[in-house]
Amino acid sequence: MALVGIVAVSVALTGCGRGDTGSSSADPSEGAAAEGFAADATIGVALPDRTSENWVLAGDLFTNGLDEAGFDGNVQYAGSSNSVGDQQQQIQTMIDGGAEVIVIGAADTNQLATQLQAADAAGITVIAYDRLIQNSELVDYYVAFDNFHVGELQAESLLQGLEERYGDQEAWNIELFSGSPDDSNSAVFFDGAMSVLQPRIDDGTLTVVSGQTTVQQTSTEDWAAENAQNRMDTILQSSYQGQELHGVLSPNDNLARAILTSVQNDGREVPVVTGQDSEVESVRAIVAGTQYSTIYKDTRALVAATIEMVQALQAGEEPETTATSDNGAIEVPSNLLEPVIVTQANAAEAYADNPDLAPLTEG
Ligand code: BGC
Repeated sequence: MALVGIVAVSVALTGCGRGDTGSSSADPSEGAAAEGFAADATIGVALPDRTSENWVLAGDLFTNGLDEAGFDGNVQYAGSSNSVGDQQQQIQTMIDGGAEVIVIGAADTNQLATQLQAADAAGITVIAYDRLIQNSELVDYYVAFDNFHVGELQAESLLQGLEERYGDQEAWNIELFSGSPDDSNSAVFFDGAMSVLQPRIDDGTLTVVSGQTTVQQTSTEDWAAENAQNRMDTILQSSYQGQELHGVLSPNDNLARAILTSVQNDGREVPVVTGQDSEVESVRAIVAGTQYSTIYKDTRALVAATIEMVQALQAGEEPETTATSDNGAIEVPSNLLEPVIVTQANAAEAYADNPDLAPLTEG
């Protein structure tokens, strides 16, 4: 108990310091943050199905981090066969179980209206984690990496890789992939990337040979590797007979590896392929020179930022935010962290402080 007391006091002190940094400051007499709650309160964490390694990491980090902070953490994953229904039910159970805060990595960012209403009615604070829940006024906070910037960095690295590998050519053939349509991040990544690529498509530097250039045409249902591999197979068959493929915009590592498999099965030289998440197999592929780039979004930092937000709420402080994000209904107060682009050239440096990834870049 004494330990919990110390945690609460130190959080309250840090919270005071932050209060005057000009972040979204509400009238302290209003809103969920004003009251605070018990230092050992139940905190629900509803995560989607494990479509990439970052989700697997997040679960363990939340379980341990909430426990260390003195909370009663309840971390749940949606299963892959009925992820939306599972998650809806898990959130309802967290509400019924008296959670003070529910952190949600949405399985479908458009299908939580009922649960958010129930949470609101119970006075629960909702934090959207990584994926911004859409079209609801009842999302209190958002913690994520800057997803638009992720897309920009992916596109810039694609251009850089094309220049490095095929600098003797004036024009390059590329294909575009985006993520699952039920994840609001997919369009944000894609828009960020297209803000860099579209001008180069318009000036003829880049040709998307398939002609598929919209987020709908390029989408990958459920973020499933087999869907990306199938789409790449089809495009190679229909659009690349007698043509070279120089680069592929892939929104994450899992899909990047599926795209590389497709291209290699077709007997082609590997093109410049982007990614995201710094998954172990992709970091290996980058070091080996098959995948060109990935994005490092340190899950440890994202979970820590989320738990800090919970601690501020517990102490009755307004959590620190750096931006707001439009979810179609409101501007959600957000803490957006900076993603890092990683290629073979900077992998050792980028992962130097990560004990899981650093060894992969040695020797
Ligand atoms: C996350 C990505 C991840 C993808 C699939 C997105 O919402 O931001 O990091 O690759 O989901 O799991």
